[in-house]
Amino acid sequence: MISQLTSADREYLRRALELAARGRGRVSPNPLVGALVVRDGEVVGEGWHAELGGLHAERAALADCEQRGEDPAGATLYVTLEPCAHQGRQPPCVEALLEAKVARVVIASDDPSEKTAGRGPRILREAGVEVVELADEEEDAATAARLLNQSFRKHSRTGLPFVTLKLAMSLDGQTSTAPGDSPWISGPESRALVHRWRAESDAIAVGIGTALTDDPLLTARPESEDEPAPRQPLRIVFDSQARLPVTSQLLQTVDQSPVLVITSPDAPSARVVALRDAEAEVVTASGDTPGERINAALEDLGGREVTSLFLEGGRSLATAFAAAGQIDEARTFVAPVLLGTRAGGPGAGGVEDAPARSAPPAPVTGPARLTPLSSTVEQLGGDVLITARYKEW
Ligand SMILES: NC(=O)c1ccc[n+]([C@@H]2O[C@H](COP(=O)([O-])OP(=O)(O)OC[C@H]3O[C@@H](n4cnc5c(N)ncnc54)[C@H](OP(=O)(O)O)[C@@H]3O)[C@@H](O)[C@H]2O)c1
Repeated sequence: MISQLTSADREYLRRALELAARGRGRVSPNPLVGALVVRDGEVVGEGWHAELGGLHAERAALADCEQRGEDPAGATLYVTLEPCAHQGRQPPCVEALLEAKVARVVIASDDPSEKTAGRGPRILREAGVEVVELADEEEDAATAARLLNQSFRKHSRTGLPFVTLKLAMSLDGQTSTAPGDSPWISGPESRALVHRWRAESDAIAVGIGTALTDDPLLTARPESEDEPAPRQPLRIVFDSQARLPVTSQLLQTVDQSPVLVITSPDAPSARVVALRDAEAEVVTASGDTPGERINAALEDLGGREVTSLFLEGGRSLATAFAAAGQIDEARTFVAPVLLGTRAGGPGAGGVEDAPARSAPPAPVTGPARLTPLSSTVEQLGGDVLITARYKEW
């Protein structure tokens, strides 16, 4: 297919994508969107969706145009997501574009939500505006725009949050340190990045094994005090028997950010009452298998507009998510340390858990094997970060 775009169009879209990314961690459950108004080869307005409930990117770009004393009539508007045509927290963007009399709209990606899909571009075309929609496979900008909004896209299509697994492991493949040691395997650069990812996520989850062993806080903590206070994600513990201690750091800090405990129907009711008394929210995920309970929990989370779940382990919960087919992306830090044998006690993970050579081969059951669509490898301080995408929405 011959591209409809000029190299200038591509450059403007690249800028619109940069603007869109500024809304990270601030607009969920809405998408990240950036927009640019260009007239006679000059950028006369820039905007992005900066706050939930705030102006959409198109209106922000038109407002910027007005503030600069420029007229958008006859201009091209570049936008990373198709303009909306429905009344939501904000009025429809297509109305603003028609009022502004822009002549051409270049759209990097579609909006899969039912209330939107395709309506905005159609209304614009019917009103005589030239609309360029990038074909999926045609342009890097289309791929970049879709990847920018994976959480929004998955949630819109399935009602479930996008799940990103984060794990850190040693060079010898272990995910746990010895009891009493720092739970951190990865280095300071990786840890700072993890805090940023937490702030960008709607929710963070761990299994009760991790909650009991590490007593984590699971808050997003910026590197320096000069940085603005990040939005705190919902903190979740998968804890089928409601074992989370009321003295845990999580429950001692519910005033800073809420804690949700996901239990099974057979959790002892006295423990559930104790958790509720400690101001945790308790949700019962029903289902006969761990996978069914994970799916039920994800449906509940999606229903409360959690579009992104950052899964911080441990190994057992991560494996259960993988077996349920519910890991969309994995970010694995490989740290330049060797933890030796039995570092974290039984079940710590790693090579020493493999059966001895003389043992009969274990039956191959492995549903937890994932097939990546794409992957990247980068170095962060002393660590290597492997990012693998298993699904694309
Ligand atoms: N290196 C890393 O990146 C990293 C990250 C996190 C943790 N860790 C380490 O990993 C260790 C803990 O890992 P772990 O594997 O023992 O525990 P875990 O994965 O944190 O928790 C597993 C527990 O979660 C509970 N659970 C609740 N709902 C579940 C479901 N639907 N499916 C599966 N499990 C469910 C189960 O306990 P119940 O049935 O009793 O509820 C299960 O035993 C700690 O040493 C920690 O330091 C390492």
